[in-house]
Amino acid sequence: PKVTFIQPDGMQNVLDAEAGTSVMRTAVSNGLPGIVAECGGSAMCATCHVYVEDGYLDGLPEISDVEDEMLDCTAAERCANSRLSCQLPVVSDLAVRFPDAQV
Ligand code: FES
Repeated sequence: PKVTFIQPDGMQNVLDAEAGTSVMRTAVSNGLPGIVAECGGSAMCATCHVYVEDGYLDGLPEISDVEDEMLDCTAAERCANSRLSCQLPVVSDLAVRFPDAQV
C-alpha cells in the first residue's frame, strides 16, 4: 500500500509501505521529517501525532484507551482526525498530515 505524508507546508511524499507496518515506522524508516516517535511506538509519547486526511478514517482501528489518553497530550491541537501514527497499521492506501509541532 501507499502512504501519502503531507508536511505542514503542503509538501507531499508518497511512500510504499509494507502491509502491517505502522504509519510511524514507515515514515521513520524512510527518514521522513515530521514524526519524532520518542517512545518507539508504544503509545506513550504522543510525538507521532498525525491528522488522517478526509476519506481515510474509515477502516482504521478504533482508538484505544491508551491512545485516547495520549492524544490529549499532543503538542499540536487534537482534532477529530487526530491519531497516533504508531497505532495505525498500514492495510490499504492512506494519507496523513503532520502537525506543526510534535514536542
Ligand atoms: Fe510514541 Fe507513537 S511513537 S506514541
